[in-house]
Amino acid sequence: MNCADAQGEYPMKATMKAFTYTQYGSPDVLQLQEVPPPSPQADEVLIEIHAAALNAADWHLLRADPFLARLQMGLLKPKIHILGLDVAGRVVALGSQVTQFKVGDEVFGESTMKTLGCFAEYVALPAKTLALKPSNLSFEEAAAVPLAAGTALQALRNNGQLRAGQSVLINGASGGVGTFALQLAKYLGAEVTAVCSTQKMEMVRSLGADHVIDYTQEDFTQSGKKYDLILAVNGDRSPWEYRRALAPEGRYVMVGGTNKQLFQTLFLGPLLSLGSRQKLGAMLAQGDARDLGFLSKLLAAGKLKPVIDRCYPFEQLVEAMHYLEAGHAMGKIVLSVKAS
Ligand SMILES: NC(=O)c1ccc[n+]([C@@H]2O[C@H](COP(=O)([O-])OP(=O)(O)OC[C@H]3O[C@@H](n4cnc5c(N)ncnc54)[C@H](OP(=O)(O)O)[C@@H]3O)[C@@H](O)[C@H]2O)c1
Repeated sequence: MNCADAQGEYPMKATMKAFTYTQYGSPDVLQLQEVPPPSPQADEVLIEIHAAALNAADWHLLRADPFLARLQMGLLKPKIHILGLDVAGRVVALGSQVTQFKVGDEVFGESTMKTLGCFAEYVALPAKTLALKPSNLSFEEAAAVPLAAGTALQALRNNGQLRAGQSVLINGASGGVGTFALQLAKYLGAEVTAVCSTQKMEMVRSLGADHVIDYTQEDFTQSGKKYDLILAVNGDRSPWEYRRALAPEGRYVMVGGTNKQLFQTLFLGPLLSLGSRQKLGAMLAQGDARDLGFLSKLLAAGKLKPVIDRCYPFEQLVEAMHYLEAGHAMGKIVLSVKAS
């Protein structure tokens, strides 16, 4: 089979390996199967995947948890069968309208919630969602970046409106989003307090944290210290608790945490912000090619560094998902799909 609607003929295999799921459940419902590879649309490129990263979104969609995920994925069973949002690989075919890449380019980027598809050997993605992989990064390092770093950037810059010289506290600084948020907050000139558990303190210090709080020993909401921005990435604290640690004009941005905390923030955040100079709310990141370009420059300059906890062979996605779900990764978890 050759790629339809592609510039040049790329001899595609009739099938590719992919992890599929047809019912919601634990990572054990994922099955490694041979399926037809995608064909790129006119504005897409076909990528031979070298590495893919795991994100919390993958297990939310796998388990349909929270229940609202079913509105996106299908009420009774998932209508998209291949998960995976973050990818790095090599361009092997181009849609007819694609001019910014050529076959052989090494790229990285993020799929959308409507397409997913990166836990496979090939994926077709819109060219506008991709960037050239910085040459100083491996495929595994590049795959670790798009969703987590993009989320961290948008939370700090857009929702948090962080300015140089401000103080920011990051609760959950040691995971995928947190390790990028910490480095980006430092890059933006903030004084950063990182909250993590004892074993992760050294790592977050090495990423540049000015202050580190061990959440197993100290409750930052009780210390009396106030922050201009609080990024809630992980942990289970209510908006009221976070507000206690906010400066009079401070902002609380919920990136992640528990479902209870999300509903509290969504419903009470606007109320608590009413008539106050403090602003409390949740954010939902949107893949943005300009942000990816910005991150790419920082990565190439060595100003941003992906932290990878574990790299699993492709065939071990189920184990990798179980590890992700345990919620204690130090940085990102990555799948090595094709040896470089
Ligand atoms: N809003 C959005 O657009 C968006 C985008 C991406 C992700 N998210 C959400 O953001 C959250 C974090 O994502 P992630 O990729 O960073 O997850 P992750 O990599 O799985 O986070 C793991 C980290 O969380 C830390 N952690 C666990 N319990 C904690 C606690 N009680 N207090 C502080 N830290 C704790 C762990 O450290 P220890 O082992 O030391 O506890 C570990 O380092 C998830 O809920 C995800 O769904 C939201």
